[in-house]
Amino acid sequence: MLSVPDITSQKGKRPLVCLTAYTTPVARLVDKYCDIVLVGDSVGMVLHGLPSTLGVTLEMMILHGKAVRRGLERALMVVDMPFGSYEASPEQAFLNAARLMAETGCSAVKLEGGVKMAETIAYLTERGIPVMGHVGLMPQAFNTLGGYAVQGRGADAGRVLADSRAITEAGAFAVVLEKIPQSLAKRITAEIAAPTIGIGASADCDGQILVIDDMLGLFSSFKPKFVKRYAELAETAEVAIGTYTEEVIKRLFPGPDHVFEDAPASGGNGAPA
Ligand code: KIV
Repeated sequence: MLSVPDITSQKGKRPLVCLTAYTTPVARLVDKYCDIVLVGDSVGMVLHGLPSTLGVTLEMMILHGKAVRRGLERALMVVDMPFGSYEASPEQAFLNAARLMAETGCSAVKLEGGVKMAETIAYLTERGIPVMGHVGLMPQAFNTLGGYAVQGRGADAGRVLADSRAITEAGAFAVVLEKIPQSLAKRITAEIAAPTIGIGASADCDGQILVIDDMLGLFSSFKPKFVKRYAELAETAEVAIGTYTEEVIKRLFPGPDHVFEDAPASGGNGAPA
């Protein structure tokens, strides 16, 4: 399994490939391609139909984290700390991050926040918990940010830069840059020692991450500008479900290949087929 130093040593070399996963089969699918697999709190919106990530609980992250861990052999596994599980104090963050690591077997946690979370990131890192930071658009802060708009435009660039610097100096081993202008992503990537992982932040970052369901087109309605759809699986699934429906109604399925005879045919080893 890749380690945190394997990831940090890639800074300025090959771009890091990262995706989210929430289940064992998807983890198995992405493992050989990814440097980092993130069990993102996006799971709440993607799999549980929540309107935002605010309703995601530590228990949900543990459940999905355990499932993903069973599917990974190579990639570094990072689990998101959900809203309300780390902001109160460094001590609260440590207890919950330690639980996430012990119960899921992940190698690191991710939390959102810049300057204000630097003390917590240092506290966790000094106690053996590697932290991936997340600045720019922070979905858990959509109420204070006023929505999901691009962050760090114009005079606001200094704030995102200061956030990135502060959490890197505090020990974050990598920093997710979400939905910021390309010029700012380029500048932050050049200035901070940790690898930057972009989502809506351009190819000038040290790596990229996408939500797996977005890039596979498993949603038909949700199409943010920064997502490239590499497949349209919702459309493929809909055709398949439509065909199944028609065949059930016409009694074409199950066909001869899908039924059992009264006297089972013997397999080569004597086992029933
Ligand atoms: O929750 C998540 O999936 C994330 C990524 C999109 C970076 O935070």
